[in-house]
Amino acid sequence: MFAHRFARSLVCAATVLAAAGFTSLAAAEEVKIGFLVKQAEEPWFQTEWAFAEKAGKDKGFTVIKIAVPDGEKTLAAIDTLAANGAKGFVICPPDTSLGPAIMAKAKLNDLKVLAVDDRFVDAKGQPMEDVPYVGLAAFKIGEKQGKAMADEAKKRGWDLKETFAVINTFDELDTGKKRTDGSVEALKAAGLAADHILFAPQKTLDVPGSMDSTNSALVKLPSEAKNLIIGGMNDSSVLGGVRATESAGFAAANVIGVGINGTDAIGELKKASSGFYGSMLLSPDTSGYETASQMFTWVTTGKEPAKYTALDNVTLITRENFQQELTKIGLWK
Ligand code: GLA
Repeated sequence: MFAHRFARSLVCAATVLAAAGFTSLAAAEEVKIGFLVKQAEEPWFQTEWAFAEKAGKDKGFTVIKIAVPDGEKTLAAIDTLAANGAKGFVICPPDTSLGPAIMAKAKLNDLKVLAVDDRFVDAKGQPMEDVPYVGLAAFKIGEKQGKAMADEAKKRGWDLKETFAVINTFDELDTGKKRTDGSVEALKAAGLAADHILFAPQKTLDVPGSMDSTNSALVKLPSEAKNLIIGGMNDSSVLGGVRATESAGFAAANVIGVGINGTDAIGELKKASSGFYGSMLLSPDTSGYETASQMFTWVTTGKEPAKYTALDNVTLITRENFQQELTKIGLWK
């Protein structure tokens, strides 16, 4: 009797131990990674998040999404991630010069870091090439944007003597400067005279910011300016510019705005017509799904991502083809 009871409690204990062992194993297996973005209100970043979460579902990891609009929130987010047991994070920082502070904080918390979209710079303003980074082949993509604008101007039969370009710039950001530089090169190569290109620095990288910068350029236009090309580093840099041309009385037929991202132009392209002609659709699926997957691989196998992955895949989307192109990457709703 006694022996029997003893044997039974041994079995019980073994079951409890096995259950406990199983639970801690499962807990040990749950991998969490952070995905921190500078402008969570921008569709581009919401799309990156959505693709990162898709990767998490497919591969079995959890994505902790945190909006980091400033330096303070960025550093606090890194502590939050560590407290939640994350092992690493993907980040598009609100200010690239935060790079050294972000790396110091991550090191302190033993977190791995992969930068996306905007590359960290050091105290001397040089790119931090040691930190793995996934970003655009920016100059090349800018050139394609410039060529798309010039091609459309040609198609409309515009006389370049009456055509002026307003390029909204955001030179604080290397990926921004390279995009607008590339765009301007392509416009010049297509025959637009240098003195027909007006540069309009944006104070903020959003629609109000580009509306203001374009407005300040429009008042400087000579009277022969009949047709306008509106450029800028992303969709919001062009959308605000196009709004400014509308307020200044330019008809849609006399304006060609081409953005970059594609994700932030969907609502605009759904309008029957506007001076916003199209956008260079990037690969938010790669920037979100791949970066999160690479971080997952890094924390689980130790395989570090490449130091620099340049994304150069773009497709011009216009009212003609945007539904089709967005459907291809699962973004048509
Ligand atoms: C920057 C821009 C975003 C988007 C990404 C693409 O972060 O602010 O809108 O263009 O680059 O890498």
